[in-house]
Amino acid sequence: MRQIPFFNYPHVYQQQKEEILASMMRVMERGAFILQEELFQFEREIARFVNAEYAVGVANGTESMFVALLAAGIGPGDEVILCSHTYIATAAAVHFTGATPVLVDCGEDRLIDPVAVENAVTSRTRAVMPTHLNGRTCNMDRLQAVAAKHGLIIIEDAAQALGSKFKGRSAGTFGFAGSVSLYPAKVLGCFGDGGVLFTNAEKTYEQLLKLHDHGRDENGMVVTWGVNSRLDTLQAAVLLPKLKNFPNEIIRRRKLAQLYTDNLKDVPELRLPPAPDADNDHFDIYQNYELEAENRDELRQYLKNNGVGSIIQWGGTPVHKFTGLGLPGKCLPVVEEFFRKCFLLPMNTSLSDDDVYYICEIIRKFYGGC
Ligand SMILES: Cc1ncc(COP(=O)(O)O)c(C=O)c1O
Repeated sequence: MRQIPFFNYPHVYQQQKEEILASMMRVMERGAFILQEELFQFEREIARFVNAEYAVGVANGTESMFVALLAAGIGPGDEVILCSHTYIATAAAVHFTGATPVLVDCGEDRLIDPVAVENAVTSRTRAVMPTHLNGRTCNMDRLQAVAAKHGLIIIEDAAQALGSKFKGRSAGTFGFAGSVSLYPAKVLGCFGDGGVLFTNAEKTYEQLLKLHDHGRDENGMVVTWGVNSRLDTLQAAVLLPKLKNFPNEIIRRRKLAQLYTDNLKDVPELRLPPAPDADNDHFDIYQNYELEAENRDELRQYLKNNGVGSIIQWGGTPVHKFTGLGLPGKCLPVVEEFFRKCFLLPMNTSLSDDDVYYICEIIRKFYGGC
């Protein structure tokens, strides 16, 4: 039987093994481990890739949001609105500033609902943090309009959306700052934890630089409180060749998404994510292929019995349902209904076309088709 794991971690290394090893060796032989040239080169190249003025490598995609919130001056007494269909990391970043995360529902597109954001605004609201989930950028026109109307800062959780665009503009470049995760399973993954922050404002860039390096300025003088959240130069060395290959990564993921669409679109029990060319406003990069299915749990078991791995994001629980966090109880009907049906199929460049045909065939069989 064919075996298709949900994710193939060794592939993250094997894909460009020789180039990556050579790049890492250059760092190791110089002993150039912290805040060295490969990191600065990576920051310049990734900023150019998303067309942002500045990029700052950080330790992971959670601390990056924390650092961005600190740079925005957000703290105790403030409220920050985010969608309940996100990783706990988005809410945790807010929590650790001392501010209150305010969770709202998804819209029909399963991304943060701008109407719900507007309804959640109070006199304490300082910011909104849209999560560009699964490699699809939120409708930023609508969010920017709400933010402008209420004087809110936008900090984007683009952990899953490097290279994704809305109306030609890259995720992570719309607001005060945007945060991307470079975790190994991400579209651009390093060999451990990593992240990057984007901003277009010089002043914010200078603040981020200090905040992520113990509050030190370019002379090593501590000028503010800060944290240690730097991207290792060794990780940047891994990422440099991967970034060169990244456009091919996106092309392949979009092709895989198209194959899923073509082979599953007439299965009535499924609701698929938008196809790659479903509309002109979005350019999706398919970090994940998240769909909704009737009899989801039985379908996942049937896939497993046939050698196909799948997962449910966030352990199947939206943020507002984690009861141990002291968040106020609320009902968010769209996200709750979504979590009864959602799951992720394999989506990564170790998959062959035949793997996708096989997965689709198993799904069709499950629903009694041919
Ligand atoms: C939507 C979202 N936000 C934040 C994060 C946190 O990123 P990291 O794991 O790099 O801290 C992730 C990572 O899985 C994510 O998917």
